[in-house]
Amino acid sequence: MKTLFFDKITETALDFCGKLIREGELVAFPTETVYGLGADATNTDAVCKIYEAKGREGDNPLIVHFADPADIEVYASIPDKALFEKLSAAFMPGPLTVVLPRKDALSPRVSAGLSTVAVRVPSHEGARAFIRAARRPIAAPSANRSHRPSPTAASHVVEDMDGKIAAILDGGTCEHGVESTVLLLSDTLRLLRPGAVTREMIEEVTGREVLVDAGVLSRVEDVRRVASPGMKYRHYAPQAPLSAVVGEDERVCAFFAKAQSEGAGILCYEEDLEYLAKNERTMSLGSAEDYAAQAETLFCALRTFDKRRVERIYTRLPKEEGVGLAVKNRLLRACEFDIIEV
Ligand code: TXA
Ligand code: MG
Repeated sequence: MKTLFFDKITETALDFCGKLIREGELVAFPTETVYGLGADATNTDAVCKIYEAKGREGDNPLIVHFADPADIEVYASIPDKALFEKLSAAFMPGPLTVVLPRKDALSPRVSAGLSTVAVRVPSHEGARAFIRAARRPIAAPSANRSHRPSPTAASHVVEDMDGKIAAILDGGTCEHGVESTVLLLSDTLRLLRPGAVTREMIEEVTGREVLVDAGVLSRVEDVRRVASPGMKYRHYAPQAPLSAVVGEDERVCAFFAKAQSEGAGILCYEEDLEYLAKNERTMSLGSAEDYAAQAETLFCALRTFDKRRVERIYTRLPKEEGVGLAVKNRLLRACEFDIIEV
């Protein structure tokens, strides 16, 4: 299949891509988090193409995207309206996904057999214009091949999806760089995946405690009890083995310097750079507590190591506060919980 590439989101591009969606084709589009691989969420054949193009496990459900929070109720039940109102007023549009009981208007394949559906309203103007042009709810996972780092630029989508999908809409680089926060709304509020909308922000807006699901910071051993099926799989992984290095700053930097001299790739903090040699295998994730910068850099850096053919990578692991929790969650999954204490 020849993949059409639109280097700008124009009216013509939107009309064309909206039509492709109604015809059951796949279109990659930008959001404020990462690029999405979109299909008509009401069309089972179209949704199945997503799993095929990504090489995604069939038991891992998809997020459905809407242009307006008011559209959600057609496709999902909202048991606690007051709670939903608070969340949608604060974070929709924005990088928050909520998991709700599903309604039958959606293809059952978006939920991968679950009775719930994950929904979100992206804040990226191009994303919402695309959803409106399609006139359908858009099922969209991140537009990478499964287990690869999520795409934060259209060029990353080309690397993974060229020839496999109908079109790619280029809307520039993504603002946040990590995928949306996924929140399960039931009697308790449970964070299934951390993102740019933080646990602290949700607690502030709702006045309720947010529980962090066990799968966010630990390895999921018992697959029967996984709240979010995506947590079972190795994710975001570069080709080279990756390990996280933790301990006192001086010791971590000494470890990095030695590994660097042996040819390893290093993903360090800005502050570490002065202790290390400058070379193309050493990259800064951002300043130690600038979690937003780390989120923005993370996936692109992992892809860059692949391009530079690095054979071994060591990384810092940020704290669990604010957006740091999202960066730590992605790095733990990328390194498969391989942590070296120095
Ligand atoms: O920022 C994002 O959320 C991006 C952009 C494109 O919107 N999308 C994205 O989709 O990250 P994906 O498929 O890569 O990740 C969706 C995550 C998976 O971990 C999946 O298991 C979880 O959400 N999920 C989806 N539906 C669910 C459901 N009904 N219950 C629990 N978890 C669900
Ligand atoms: Mg993904």
